[in-house]
Amino acid sequence: MAKLSDFYGAFHAANTTLHLKTLQDHQNFGSVIRQGPNKLVFNTSSALHDIYQNERITKSRAYLVTQRAPDSYGLFNSLDKTIHQRKRKLLGPIVNDRSTQAFETSMHRHIDVFIQDLLSLCQKKPTTPVNMSEKFTYLTIDIMGEFVFGYPLNLQKNETYRYRSILRKMIQSRLAAGPNAKHNLFFMTDTLRVSDDDEMFIEEIRSEATFLLSAGSDTMSTCLSALFFYLSRNADCYQKLTAEIRSKFSSSDSIIGGRHLSDCNYLKACIDEALRMSPPIAGTLWREQITERNREVEAAPVVVDGHIIPHGTYIGVNTYALHHNETYFPDAFTFKPERFLEKGAEQAKKAFNPFSLGARGCMGRQMAYLELSLVVAKVLWHFDFTRGLDETGRLGESTYWKLRGWRERIDEYQIYDIFGAKHQGPWLIFKSRRGEEGDGAST
Ligand code: HEM
Repeated sequence: MAKLSDFYGAFHAANTTLHLKTLQDHQNFGSVIRQGPNKLVFNTSSALHDIYQNERITKSRAYLVTQRAPDSYGLFNSLDKTIHQRKRKLLGPIVNDRSTQAFETSMHRHIDVFIQDLLSLCQKKPTTPVNMSEKFTYLTIDIMGEFVFGYPLNLQKNETYRYRSILRKMIQSRLAAGPNAKHNLFFMTDTLRVSDDDEMFIEEIRSEATFLLSAGSDTMSTCLSALFFYLSRNADCYQKLTAEIRSKFSSSDSIIGGRHLSDCNYLKACIDEALRMSPPIAGTLWREQITERNREVEAAPVVVDGHIIPHGTYIGVNTYALHHNETYFPDAFTFKPERFLEKGAEQAKKAFNPFSLGARGCMGRQMAYLELSLVVAKVLWHFDFTRGLDETGRLGESTYWKLRGWRERIDEYQIYDIFGAKHQGPWLIFKSRRGEEGDGAST
């Protein structure tokens, strides 16, 4: 079917089950499968290297569907290496370690609102389960909104902004503040400019902003929701992690970026295991060979895992499938952070790829680990939590887990693959460890 038509992939993509189908196809047909007349998916760590760390390969034309106008290219969808490298170089200083450290104080402010909100809920509705997907979505958008624009969105506190687009207001406010405003991403916009047309320019900013906001918030809320889901179902891991956090830090305020936090090995392993089992970008990141000006270079074939790839073929590795490949991750559907700490972890680390690799790999990786570690450590310092009934009255199971027989693994945090993953729950009941009370700012 896949040999004849792209309908095969499109059908499963529309069902948000393409990652599950891809894994099943690899299990049935081996480490390289066809997913369309012109599409090959690989399932080995060596293919990761062959494809994503290959100078002669770029993003596939499939990414052009995200273009806002024919000549408008963003960091995410520029296939041309020169445009992409220029944008990436300019964004580099904004998302590097120093900039992330400088932004940490703002992160704490938003995380503290999150903690206060949970404390308030513990006090006012102690037995009502909290939908963590929703809470983490507001938290991560608040953090990323401030990072990108230096403009507080306050979704956690203020419901008005949750349901209407304020992107234009944010852009105008940020541009009006000029180049010397405290955080500087949009000071870069003029240098990021590709088009001379003013309307096009606004569109470029808008598309970069939308991309960054979503790249740095959807992914984070998926990972946090998944991790809390797994912790709520794996008592041993929950105990080990809480013991690590509560023994390392004497107060919530002492939880800051730096050596103490990065020494929390079990915390890092838990984050990685959640990223492995329910990767926020779960699908196949399609790539293809660059069309070279030099015909001789173009004629030389790209080789992946020993297969010669015809020019123009879309190729890629499916992150979800690779993360559940038993060769690298034995007992792949079990949440086992220890696999990243034990002897022989090298094998797992080689195939662990939630942030992708090479020239198009994630730019926010450092920031992601800092933010994830701070949120998890602070929540576990303040609270104990248990599973609650979800909106359908079940014990925190996904509403759609039985969908077409694809989601029968109830101990897996289900993601709905639409490039970035949609998700819901877990529903958890929190208890303040120290009988603290929230400031009542939000309910
Ligand atoms: C757990 C959190 C995150 C995950 C799993 C993740 C994953 C990824 C992946 C897989 C890509 C490659 C996409 C592709 O090839 O199509 C990517 C790209 C990117 N990510 Fe992240 N990301 C995360 C957080 C962040 C954060 C917090 C930021 C912002 C500070 C960020 C900024 C970017 C940017 C700018 C790119 C585009 C890089 C390029 O095309 O050159 N990401 N991310």
